Amino acid sequence: MLVTLKHAITLLKAQEVVALPTETVYGLAAALHSLKAVKRVFQIKKRPLKNPLIIHLGKKASLLDYASSYPPETFNLIEVFWPGPLTLILPANPSKIDSSIRSGLETAAFRMPDHPLTLAILEEIPALVMPSANLSGKPSPTKAEHVLKDLGENIPVVNGGMCKKGLESTILSHIDNKWWILRLGSLPASVFKPILGYEPKVFALQSSDPMCPGQYLRHYAPEAKLILGDANRLEEADAILGFYEGSYPANKKVYYLGSLETPEEVAHHFYDVLRQLDVFQLKTVFVDVNFPREGIWQTIWERLVRASNNIISEK
Ligand code: TXA
Ligand code: MG
Repeated sequence: MLVTLKHAITLLKAQEVVALPTETVYGLAAALHSLKAVKRVFQIKKRPLKNPLIIHLGKKASLLDYASSYPPETFNLIEVFWPGPLTLILPANPSKIDSSIRSGLETAAFRMPDHPLTLAILEEIPALVMPSANLSGKPSPTKAEHVLKDLGENIPVVNGGMCKKGLESTILSHIDNKWWILRLGSLPASVFKPILGYEPKVFALQSSDPMCPGQYLRHYAPEAKLILGDANRLEEADAILGFYEGSYPANKKVYYLGSLETPEEVAHHFYDVLRQLDVFQLKTVFVDVNFPREGIWQTIWERLVRASNNIISEK
């Protein structure tokens, strides 16, 4: 159900959950101090309790309350990228952040989202926990209607239009004296070089590693089985996920991700197009992966790999 900003604030103050727009994807929000609502967030999303939540702040200075120490360059990073699609993993202040939010880790994830409606809510409620508002494992929602489809018509949603970026925030963590990318996202690695002096690399997570639990699960996946770029298997596919510049067999319907010239637009529409495959009840879809692997394309490639992975790992 769509709700007004004012109603959303009332609900959050009354320990209810509300889905909110951000510039990346829609999130399912609970007030940080409401453990009842935090529990509901896990339940509604069917999210494993060992997968911690991102804390969303309305003011950069709030970090001083919720984090307990600050690796070098923390403040330079937030000065440049907040509000925006950067999440930092920092040592958590345990007296302010319940262990259930952190899934028992000593760190917590923080970001300041860049959407006027959600920033207005954060004026009233200074900290919200907010995972993406999809069912665990599904593509993230980039429209209010995606949230209602996944979580049901009764979930209150503030409609903030289609998310500007369309892919989740980039997650950085400071490990052994360097910043590492724990999750590729809307911000490509190259944007951090002017601040850090180097491009952070993607941290190679071990499956036993508790550092970024959400990263092991099959994720971002439509019902349709995705075949990535193996032309031998084109025949098996009901349809093709491709680009305006591609040439494809005339007997297959093509769902377009956009143009190879405009990766930001591809990112913006990406999850909406993945969700359309399910609307049309496609079983097997061939994906044209003839695109670069740098910048935002690297994130798009990673999401496709995760979405095409048929093994559901709960490690
Ligand atoms: O763009 C975004 O980040 C969106 C919007 C709503 O802000 N949120 C989002 O949240 O993508 P979620 O919960 O779907 O993904 C958060 C990721 C998970 O993979 C989780 O494991 C990781 O952040 N995470 C959270 N706390 C962590 C921590 N303390 N250490 C390592 N990873 C953490
Ligand atoms: Mg998510």
